[in-house]
Amino acid sequence: MWGGRFAEGPAAIMRDINASISVDKRLWREDITGSKAHAEMLAAVGVISEADGKEIVDGLERVAQEIETGAFTFSADLEDIHMNVEARLIELIGEPGRRLHTARSRNDQVATDFRMWTRRACRDAADAIGVLQVALVDQAEANADVVMPGYTHLQIAQPVTFGHHMLAYVEMLERDRSRFADAAARMNECPLGAAALAGTSFPIDRNRTAAALGFDRPCANSLDAVSSRDFAIEAVMAASLCATHLSRLAEELVMWTSPHFGFVRLPDAFSTGSSIMPQKRNPDAAELCRAMPGRIVGALSTLLIMMKGLPLAYAKDMQEDKAATFAAFDGLSLALAAMSGMIRNLNVNRDAMRAAAALGYSTATDLADWLVRTRRTPFRRAHEIVGRIVAIAEKKGLTLDKLALSDLQSVDPEITQDVYDVLSVEASVGSRTSFGATSPTNVRERIADWRTRFEEMPT
Ligand code: ARG
Repeated sequence: MWGGRFAEGPAAIMRDINASISVDKRLWREDITGSKAHAEMLAAVGVISEADGKEIVDGLERVAQEIETGAFTFSADLEDIHMNVEARLIELIGEPGRRLHTARSRNDQVATDFRMWTRRACRDAADAIGVLQVALVDQAEANADVVMPGYTHLQIAQPVTFGHHMLAYVEMLERDRSRFADAAARMNECPLGAAALAGTSFPIDRNRTAAALGFDRPCANSLDAVSSRDFAIEAVMAASLCATHLSRLAEELVMWTSPHFGFVRLPDAFSTGSSIMPQKRNPDAAELCRAMPGRIVGALSTLLIMMKGLPLAYAKDMQEDKAATFAAFDGLSLALAAMSGMIRNLNVNRDAMRAAAALGYSTATDLADWLVRTRRTPFRRAHEIVGRIVAIAEKKGLTLDKLALSDLQSVDPEITQDVYDVLSVEASVGSRTSFGATSPTNVRERIADWRTRFEEMPT
């Protein structure tokens, strides 16, 4: 395709390092769609004849069919998807096929194909996040009033509801979804027609190709159009952050399924056994979701390091962009699907959660708040009083709600019988009704809100 000035073919190792077809053949649909739009535009502005334009488009459709059915043979000698498709087009239709590459270069071609691929990947990721959010909201609804320990430093802090915990992830994932939407919107400018780097002398219509390929407008600077990959970097950044969020939930599933917690059980379909220990039920899918940021953040650093210090415009370094980006999105879509499956099928052990929620004097803050509210005790003094009560409870091996009134009064004689109303974990979560708080009432309100938002989501 470019051998005119060369006397010899490439060394075998040159071919090996140069060829990208094993990776970029995934861009075949985008490549053919882009080429069809380019040919139609060339015909419309009279750079090629209408007849040639039609032959090219028909020929490209035949190539697409060959690839789709597996009849196409990809060749490493033809380097990449662009030259594989074009060479086959010329084989099929002859002379008109040789006119397709007028007023374009592989540089604007690959930038266009890859933007279209990444735009699709962002939209698919956003949809997959939506599926997981629905699963989380369903679990929140089924367990709106299930009490579990809330932690700080992984030490039991205050009781919370499992529904509230699930909805925390729905919030995080909503920001991830909007990051993908932002990235897809920002990248939606079309490089096609920037040609090698300087634009072209042919009277091309870049608005037409941009519109035909679903872009908002053409990229306004030809150098930027062929040499920028921040669209992929931004998309993989969004993927990194989303994977990081998934890894936190994954780690919680790993802990919660451990017999030490026993809060949830994963179904058989999402557990694995051990080849030596017959009793084992391992949360492998959760562990792999926990590990996934390794792959995705690795891809992000590949992309950033690849781009750092590259002079304008195109350089072959950028060919490395696709393997990294594909790996990141393959990994993310696996993790999202696996996490959706696990969450949807999670069995919640409400008794184990409730029992754990009562440990660690988790309603101590409720007792201090009661003193502030009913006795007008300053909070710092209440904190000190409750600290001493906790010490007594610890010595007696009792939870706060099981201490005798006389024990409580030995520290503060002003404490009365009705304090017991606030010492149970149910009372504790029920009382937390400030905006954004954990009470079952709050959780149900938020669920209703999410349901409406999901209905309004564009699909
Ligand atoms: N396979 C190349 C890539 O992915 C396509 C662009 C090649 N351009 C060039 N001038 N060699 O980057």
